[in-house]
Amino acid sequence: MNTTNKTVLVTGGGSGIGFQIAKLFSEKGSKVIITGRNEEKLKSAAAKLQNVDYYVADVTNAANIESLITLIVANYPSLDVLINNAGNASIYQVGNGQDTFVKASEEIVTNYLSVVNLTEKLLPYLEKQAEPAVVNVTSIVAFAPSFLIPTYSASKAALRSYTQILRFTLEKKGSNVQVFELMPPLVNTDFSKDINGHKGIPPEEVAQELVRALESNTQEVRVGITEFVYSTFFAGSENAIPAIYQAEHGE
Ligand SMILES: NC(=O)c1ccc[n+]([C@@H]2O[C@H](COP(=O)([O-])OP(=O)(O)OC[C@H]3O[C@@H](n4cnc5c(N)ncnc54)[C@H](OP(=O)(O)O)[C@@H]3O)[C@@H](O)[C@H]2O)c1
Repeated sequence: MNTTNKTVLVTGGGSGIGFQIAKLFSEKGSKVIITGRNEEKLKSAAAKLQNVDYYVADVTNAANIESLITLIVANYPSLDVLINNAGNASIYQVGNGQDTFVKASEEIVTNYLSVVNLTEKLLPYLEKQAEPAVVNVTSIVAFAPSFLIPTYSASKAALRSYTQILRFTLEKKGSNVQVFELMPPLVNTDFSKDINGHKGIPPEEVAQELVRALESNTQEVRVGITEFVYSTFFAGSENAIPAIYQAEHGE
């Protein structure tokens, strides 16, 4: 797909990977809308870029999401690209009697359910565009779970499943929406500072890889060491999707 002069919504675009994606699209003449919970962060991020608007919206808050959708439909009817990037993680061990339910619930709601909510609600509008796309930001831990961030890993595995099924379903019904999955390894951002993030790759590299993948229509975007881990242990696993479809639908 062409990545110039688009209208792009980046959730969690005020920092880290989302900010770098917003920056690249802005440099390519796109109108970019960034969202997050922290207004000061969004304001300062938008001020550093051209043609970027910001909107405060917590992806886990149903009323915030309804308002965001109303705003997008009214003011950005040419929305081409939805980038589901907002995410969070909690560090804890499982299996030692800790009460992990609250943290786990928050991670599942933020990283999985909120993506399903926003995507399903924006799809009818995206489908009106010539070359629309959804990008879901998962992680290397979507297929190789981390002991440090167990439910975060599970939430990204759930998001990977949803992304694969959504892609296949939309293809089957002839939709023009392409569904991309961005799978970074450890990246040096605020998010990862308590899990040795300083050893990770820069967020700029992740954003550049995404833009290259969008331009070459490469829907599974395995960045850096993610590609090595995938090709060593999981290569071809995505090919099971058509087989499951066939078994379930008899076609
Ligand atoms: N860093 C890594 O090692 C790594 C690796 C693989 C995948 N990822 C994924 O990459 C994505 C971006 O993370 P990052 O590393 O760039 O970290 P980051 O700089 O902390 O960015 C996360 C963004 O998400 C926003 N956010 C969090 N909860 C939100 C909520 N409930 N509603 C709306 N916005 C929310 C935050 O903004 P506010 O605080 O203003 O809400 C923040 O701008 C995440 O999905 C993460 O899981 C990160």
